[in-house]
Amino acid sequence: MSGAAPLRFRVVEHELVDSTSERAFAELAAGRARHGDVHLARGQTQGRGRLGRRWESAPGEGLYMSIVLLPAEAMLPAFLTMAATLAVRDALIDAGAGELVVKWPNDLLAGDAKLCGVLIESRGLDPARPHYVIGIGINVGQRSFPPELEAERAVTSLARLGIAIEPRALAELVLERLPARLASDPRALANDFLAATGLAGERVRVETGRGARTGKLLELSTDRGLLLALADGATARVPLEIVSALAREGE
Ligand code: BTN
Repeated sequence: MSGAAPLRFRVVEHELVDSTSERAFAELAAGRARHGDVHLARGQTQGRGRLGRRWESAPGEGLYMSIVLLPAEAMLPAFLTMAATLAVRDALIDAGAGELVVKWPNDLLAGDAKLCGVLIESRGLDPARPHYVIGIGINVGQRSFPPELEAERAVTSLARLGIAIEPRALAELVLERLPARLASDPRALANDFLAATGLAGERVRVETGRGARTGKLLELSTDRGLLLALADGATARVPLEIVSALAREGE
């Protein structure tokens, strides 16, 4: 993270909160937030995911954590998403979760079941004083999930994968891994991220606000987006800001 103060984490532990990201934004609004603040809760009443979805946050069952970043310069959202998602993946692999696939843009899957989600947010970003909140939700101890959630999509937890770990210990693993990913060279980071999606060199379908495109995925870059080889032999770049979904063609 260029020009940023060293990342020293200050962990604030909460019992039950609306949302750890909401607690982070409240501290930011009050002018009390510091670079590296971490809000960690046992449970959330209004845990939220991407696209306004609800994040199941039963007390003691999952890791619910939000990290405040106040870098000296604005950061590319794609860089932050990749760094946070890969740091969580590194931590989960350290915990014994085995191979985890990144599902665009920031889900971690074990097999085809969702284990974790990452949500990067900022509100009224002032480029002169940028702020970001990295929200991380990991399913840890759940043996079962609400039936409506399981009906919507395949979900799993570390407990279901046979891994016993406390959310607090897992949080430490994530915080150990995050600084290195945030300090990564953007090119190396994007290459690692692409490798973790399993889509390098595959035929993919990219959904964008301007329609869908298909092609062979040649490259991923935090600033130049996706590079596709099209069926007619031409190549096309797709900026990441307009990509809403990316998956193997036919999936
Ligand atoms: C997603 O997959 O849609 C992202 C889920 C992010 C959930 C985490 S839990 C901690 C933080 N607080 C929230 O309300 N959401 C994020």
